[in-house]
Amino acid sequence: MVIDFKQDILSPVATDFAAMDHLINEGISSKVGLVMSVSKHVVEAGGKRMRPIMCLLAARACGLANMQQAQHLAAVIEMLHTATLVHDDVVDESSLRRGRPTANATWNNQTAVLVGDFLIARAFDLLVDLNNITLLKDFSTGTCEIAEGEVLQLQSQHQPETTEETYLRIIHGKTSRLFELATEGAAILAGTEEYREPLRRFAGHFGNAFQIIDDILDYTSDAETLGKNIGDDLMEGKPTLPLISALAHSTGDDHAIIRRSIATGGVEQLDKVIEIVHHSGGLEYCQKRAQQETDAALEALKALPDNEYRQALINLTLMALHRLQ
Ligand code: IPE
Ligand code: IPE
Ligand code: MG
Ligand code: MG
Repeated sequence: MVIDFKQDILSPVATDFAAMDHLINEGISSKVGLVMSVSKHVVEAGGKRMRPIMCLLAARACGLANMQQAQHLAAVIEMLHTATLVHDDVVDESSLRRGRPTANATWNNQTAVLVGDFLIARAFDLLVDLNNITLLKDFSTGTCEIAEGEVLQLQSQHQPETTEETYLRIIHGKTSRLFELATEGAAILAGTEEYREPLRRFAGHFGNAFQIIDDILDYTSDAETLGKNIGDDLMEGKPTLPLISALAHSTGDDHAIIRRSIATGGVEQLDKVIEIVHHSGGLEYCQKRAQQETDAALEALKALPDNEYRQALINLTLMALHRLQ
């Protein structure tokens, strides 16, 4: 089945989505001109809006009837996500995001860091309005873990010994945790305690699959398709799964080249590294792991009521995996 984003994923929550989008635009308003222009620059560039859509679908799947709060929560999530991207592009020295020059490239690092801070603070400012201490606690703990994931990644930079286990800890923190907040948060809002754990498990595995796929694409795709440059991970000496598995699957010169590339960073060897990643069997291993995480995500969804919203979550999961094709 070919999944159509609008029809098979977005349509059950299209009205909620429009309201959420409006809330984000309202939410980023600021008295300070520079805050405004930087926030607008990144928010208007769009992005796939996967996390808020997931939040809205999860809330509906749990049977939440009054969706106003869920729209509000979804806006908070997208704002947090946008902030992490603005910070991430400073850390990764990236120049392209969502098909546009990044905030750090357009202005500078100082501006990007501070406006990223503003976006996180503003997201929590809006979250407090929901008057739900369980939700607030979940989000504050989760946001600490997201930051820890990014720092753990920094700590592993240029470390060829990094294991798959450490890689999983990193991606769970920096990526999957926010997906978990999006869906578990929806269950908290809906007051359906029994769906919290399955939704969190779903999102955790979804996030892992999503980041593994993203890390594969950094070696196999192109800037035009992705809206960000490929080879960024190698440039930074990041031991992502394609490199970890290429190391595990290679010997001799190939092994040495990968090790050295992680240790030094830089893209001089990009073509050679891409070739090794492809031919060592490392790439197949990553694809297998992405498939396993996808299967585990789908399995977790079985605990939810069978309705069009759950089906849309299934479709979103399958579509994320199909980014590889
Ligand atoms: C980018 O997330 C960061 C990763 C977790 C790989 P998305 O790919 O969801 O980014 P946008 O929002 O669509 O730009
Ligand atoms: C994703 O990390 C950013 C966050 C989850 C905060 P990456 O650095 O791997 O993703 P891209 O490639 O910049 O989107
Ligand atoms: Mg990055
Ligand atoms: Mg990064």
